[in-house]
Amino acid sequence: MKDMILIAGPASTYLAEKISEITGIKLVRLEHKLFPDGESYIRFPESIEGEDLIVIQGTHPPQDRHLIQAYLIAENALDLGARTVKLVSPYLAYARQDKRFREGEAVSILSILKMMKSAGYEKVYTLNIHAPWIAEKSPLPLIDLRAEKVLAKYLKNLNLEDVIIVSVGKKGESMASMVAEELGVGYAAAKSMRDTITGKVKVELEGVEEVKRAIVVDDIISTGGTMAEVVKALKEKGAREVYAACIHALMVGNAEDKITSAGASEIIASDTIPNKFMKYSVAELISDAILREK
Ligand code: R5P
Repeated sequence: MKDMILIAGPASTYLAEKISEITGIKLVRLEHKLFPDGESYIRFPESIEGEDLIVIQGTHPPQDRHLIQAYLIAENALDLGARTVKLVSPYLAYARQDKRFREGEAVSILSILKMMKSAGYEKVYTLNIHAPWIAEKSPLPLIDLRAEKVLAKYLKNLNLEDVIIVSVGKKGESMASMVAEELGVGYAAAKSMRDTITGKVKVELEGVEEVKRAIVVDDIISTGGTMAEVVKALKEKGAREVYAACIHALMVGNAEDKITSAGASEIIASDTIPNKFMKYSVAELISDAILREK
């Protein structure tokens, strides 16, 4: 197999540079801009004919723009003679709409995966996808890399004493137990219920008596509503310090304010989404997966 080339998509230039540094794989930075009406322009600044490309392009907000850019990149790369194109989308948009919660709804994540296949991608890598079970139904291979251990390593280095890990929802329990095991501490589960129409979240914290310090772990912080409710519940149980940790910090609207006003000391996220909350990097995890492609 020929050497691969990394393509830095407009959404993930920072992460692509880190991955290129770690792997030693050549990086091509796309030329890109937005037209005055908001449409995306992309251009390969050098020939990619005959090459195997790995495109690093997250599909975090503005997700529709980032998805169209991902589409334009693959479709044009193949038209320009690239041999193969694979996508690394550190955060994959629409993964929370993984079924018809109400009659008539779109199963959006499947439509997005079909779109990526028709663009010409051979495979999609992502991290901590909200609905891992979608891989079985995906029209193209979908690899879900898991960042729990990377998060746990960062949290361990904080050397917090008397701490417990708190998960959000039934699904979050495996994440909390993995992180808790790495740190050698206990964990508890908070139940979360979301109204499918209003989107409002209710949280119940059962079986937690006295808490001194807690780290709440969740895969995604979006509007911050869920995290804020869990932080509040822990504060009511007497916690002096509560850390709000996640893999993907979308931080929509006033999410930061909601979480800090609820009493969180710090918001901790990975660099799947470039923003001021990124405290630990998933670049090595992605690099290892890319090197396995060689
Ligand atoms: C839900 O199942 C997820 O794990 C997150 O708890 C949820 O996506 C967070 O959304 P928001 O920040 O809008 O409450």
